[in-house]
Amino acid sequence: MTVEQKWIRPEGREVLVPGTVGPRRPVPARIERPEYVDKDEAVSDTGPHIQSADVIERVREASRIAAIALQAAGEAAQPGVTTDRIDEVVHDVLIQHGAYPSTLGYLGYEKSCCTSLNEVICHGIPDSTVMQSGDILNVDVTAYIHGAHGDTNATFEVGEVDPRVQDLVSQSHEAMMRGIKAAKPGRQVNVIGRVIEKFVARHGYESVRDYTGHGVAEGFHNGLVIPHYDSAPMFDDVIAEGMTFTIEPMVAMGSQDWEQWDDGWTVVTKDRSFSAQFEHTMVITDQGPELLTVL
Ligand code: MF3
Ligand code: CO
Ligand code: CO
Repeated sequence: MTVEQKWIRPEGREVLVPGTVGPRRPVPARIERPEYVDKDEAVSDTGPHIQSADVIERVREASRIAAIALQAAGEAAQPGVTTDRIDEVVHDVLIQHGAYPSTLGYLGYEKSCCTSLNEVICHGIPDSTVMQSGDILNVDVTAYIHGAHGDTNATFEVGEVDPRVQDLVSQSHEAMMRGIKAAKPGRQVNVIGRVIEKFVARHGYESVRDYTGHGVAEGFHNGLVIPHYDSAPMFDDVIAEGMTFTIEPMVAMGSQDWEQWDDGWTVVTKDRSFSAQFEHTMVITDQGPELLTVL
């Protein structure tokens, strides 16, 4: 009997290995830093789940800048370019807009964005790795300005990408959008995850359970958890007007089982199946979710 093998990555693309991480990029002293920079803990990673109008306006400002930097990163994501060059582009755009790259100095992380290539699910560290045609690159940008954060990511196709991988990327985007549409006030946050997980499964993919969306405002991750799977009865917070949070599903072509590289950050699929992700920050209004990480 022949057993049909699931196609989970392009033939001929070698499995990733860690590259060389370059020196930390400096941030001008005039740019305000989050409290956690170069500390062992982030005390701002807790806080209210519902935000004042003033905080919401600052999350909006940070989110818009993050979206601008993400767009620049996407334009730079070409064959032959290193992921560290993407970090440089993101870093420079954030600083030009007066924002601090929230990841830089966060719990030991030393770069201005995350670059997660191919089988990397999330938290890839920009390094000397050269992108090839057929790769997919997720860039995750968080900006901090006037005491608030905005967080967004997208997966970009590098050169010519196999149509099966293109499908992974476009369905991951659609999974995020369906989750966003489900984020109506009065519902439990686990409804978002149920919608995402069901949609992803219908396409033969897996929605990664162990990494979640989060409240984002004056704290980078403020304690509110947004699952990307049907977690009920867990994560039963009721979505309410004034909440600002992310939805950021990670979708694996094969199994979502993961392992972490020795760098303490990079999360890869165990089966080395390709994985894609999209993320927006939004505010909940009486009308429903309003996207903030937009240009
Ligand atoms: N931006 C990521 C998120 O969506 C968090 C990155 S934290 C880092 O939550 F330290 F890995 F950069
Ligand atoms: Co996030
Ligand atoms: Co992010």
